[in-house]
Amino acid sequence: MDLSIVVNGMTFPNPFLLGSGPPGTNARVIAKSYDAGWGGAVAKTISLESAKVVNVVPRYGKLRSKTSGEVIGFENIELISDRPIDVWLEEFRQIKKDYPKHILIASIMEEYEKGRWQELTRMVQDTGVDAFELNFSCPHGMTERKMGSEMGEHPDLCEQVTSWVTEVSNIPVWAKMTPNITNIKEPSLAAVRGGAAGISAINTILSVIGVDLNTLRPMPTVEGHTVPGGYSSQAVRPIALRMVSQLALGLPQDVSISGIGGIENSHDAIEFLLLGSSTVQICTGVMLHGVKMVDELKEGLEKFMTDKGFNSVQEIVGKSLGYFSTHMELVQKMKAAKRSKAGEASRDNEWGQKDITEKTAELTSN
Ligand SMILES: Cc1cc2nc3c(=O)[nH]c(=O)nc-3n(C[C@H](O)[C@H](O)[C@H](O)COP(=O)(O)O)c2cc1C
Repeated sequence: MDLSIVVNGMTFPNPFLLGSGPPGTNARVIAKSYDAGWGGAVAKTISLESAKVVNVVPRYGKLRSKTSGEVIGFENIELISDRPIDVWLEEFRQIKKDYPKHILIASIMEEYEKGRWQELTRMVQDTGVDAFELNFSCPHGMTERKMGSEMGEHPDLCEQVTSWVTEVSNIPVWAKMTPNITNIKEPSLAAVRGGAAGISAINTILSVIGVDLNTLRPMPTVEGHTVPGGYSSQAVRPIALRMVSQLALGLPQDVSISGIGGIENSHDAIEFLLLGSSTVQICTGVMLHGVKMVDELKEGLEKFMTDKGFNSVQEIVGKSLGYFSTHMELVQKMKAAKRSKAGEASRDNEWGQKDITEKTAELTSN
C-alpha cells in the first residue's frame, strides 16, 4: 500500500520520522533507520561550535508503571550534538548520496546572532539536506546560553531568528516548539510570520523525574546534584495531542505540522495524524524499542487505512479536528440528547446510588 505523503514539496515514503535525539546521532544510525523502513529522519541538533557542548553522565531517568514496570515517562538532561560541524557536513553529504529518496532534515540551533544562524544555515544547506528544523525548544542546558526554549518562549525571537534563516535558505524550514509555555500558538504563529513552512511539536516538558529517598538527591544525579530536564515518552502524549490539535486549528492551512511526543506504536501515530499532523516523529520510543518498531507502525497504518477506507495518508490528516467544540456546546448537545430520553434522574441521586469508582467509570470514555 502507498503510505507516501507530500509535505512542503517533499515526498516522504511514509509519515514516520526519527525525532531529533539519540536515534539520529550520526550517519550510521540514520542509514540503519532508512534501511529498516523509516520515511525520514531529523538528525540530532547541531551548532557551529561543538566544543561548547559537554554532556554529563548519567543524563537519563525513567518513570515506570508501579504495576507492570513498563517505562511510561523519561527525563533527559542531554545537550545537543557534541560532534564537530565538519564531521556532520560530510555525513549529511554522504547520507544524501546513498539515500537520495529518503528525507533528511537537519536540526540546527545557535546563539542569538544573525551571522551565526546564517553561516550555519548556508553550510548545512550546501550538503543537500531536504529541510531545516529550528530547535527553539530544548528546555535544559542550552538555555543557559540563551538557546533552545529560551527562544521558543519568546514569539518576537522566534519570528526574528526564523526570518534570518529563511532569508538565506531555499529549502523548507520547520520550527520545533516548546510545550513549556501557556499558548503554543503564539510563538508558532510568530515563526510562520518569519517564514516557517511547518511547525514541529512538541519538544520535552520541563520535569524532575524523582528523588532518591536514601540519598535525598533529586535525579538524574550527577556528582550529587541535578538540573530539571526534559520529559518525554508515553506520559506526555495527551499534552502533545492537545497542543498539536490547537496548532492545527489555529495555524494557516498551508503550514504543515510534524507531531511529536510519546508515540510508541501505530495507534499513537494515527491519533497525531487525525489531529492534523502530516508526519510524526519518534525519539524515546526508538530509544526504548529500536528502529525495527517501524514495521508495526507501517503495518498498523495500512490496516487502519484498509479498515476505514482511506486511500491515502493525506486523507487522514486532520480528520478528527471537526469534533472539538466548546464546553457550552457540549452541554447544549447533552441536554438535547437527554430531553429525548425519559425518566431523567437528578445528579445527586445518580452519585448517591452507586459506588464512586463505578460512577467514575460510567462517566469515562475509554
Ligand atoms: C535523550 C533525548 C535527546 C533529545 N535531543 C534532542 C535534540 O538534540 N534536538 C531536539 O530538537 N529534540 C531532542 N529531543 C526531543 C525529542 O526529539 C522529542 O521532541 C521529545 O523527546 C518528545 O518525543 P518522544 O516522546 O517521542 O521522545 C531529545 C529527546 C531525548 C529523550
